[in-house]
Amino acid sequence: MSALLRPSAWFEEMREDDVPAVMAVERRIYAFPWTGGNFRDSIHAGYACRLYRDAEGLIGYSVATVAAGEAHILNLSVAAERQRMGNGARLLAHMIGLARAQRAASVFLEVRPSNEAALNLYRGCGFRRIGMRRGYYPGASVREDALVLALEL
Ligand SMILES: CC(C)(COP(=O)(O)OP(=O)(O)OC[C@H]1O[C@@H](n2cnc3c(N)ncnc32)[C@H](O)[C@@H]1OP(=O)(O)O)[C@@H](O)C(=O)NCCC(=O)NCCS
Repeated sequence: MSALLRPSAWFEEMREDDVPAVMAVERRIYAFPWTGGNFRDSIHAGYACRLYRDAEGLIGYSVATVAAGEAHILNLSVAAERQRMGNGARLLAHMIGLARAQRAASVFLEVRPSNEAALNLYRGCGFRRIGMRRGYYPGASVREDALVLALEL
């Protein structure tokens, strides 16, 4: 694509070759990161695996499933130095758009109750708490619960 026509930031499908760059971000922003295998399995399973990029590099990425009228966001991440600039909100809006395009009626996700940034992002986009999964996440000493949030489309 000509540099003149290229948008300032864009979304593209995550491929296996992208996994090392994704993992470099993932390891930096999570205490309990996904593994490279988790991303490769998601790509092979045909999940919606998207990168958000600009000319400077990787801004963020997300992985979601859409099946039987329901979307489930499994991972949504913004590189540490790109946070607090509206990138998470744009990436989330893109993933919600994919769910809508595939006629999903709802979008679900899990989030740690301690993850204030993510909770604020999701609430700001209209997600509401619908439940809790006990001991869902690994923790330093004990496992942490997950809040289950949903957005009706
Ligand atoms: C959660 C995350 C995706 C947010 O991405 P981001 O690009 O920083 O978010 P945005 O700049 O689009 O912010 C959107 C809203 O989220 C909330 N928010 C984002 N960062 C926040 C922070 N550090 N503290 C409190 N609220 C925050 C705010 O409500 C913000 O709106 P505002 O800027 O108008 O106040 C990002 O912090 C991240 O990747 N964190 C590590 C991975 C993670 O926890 N992912 C979610 C797993 S469920």
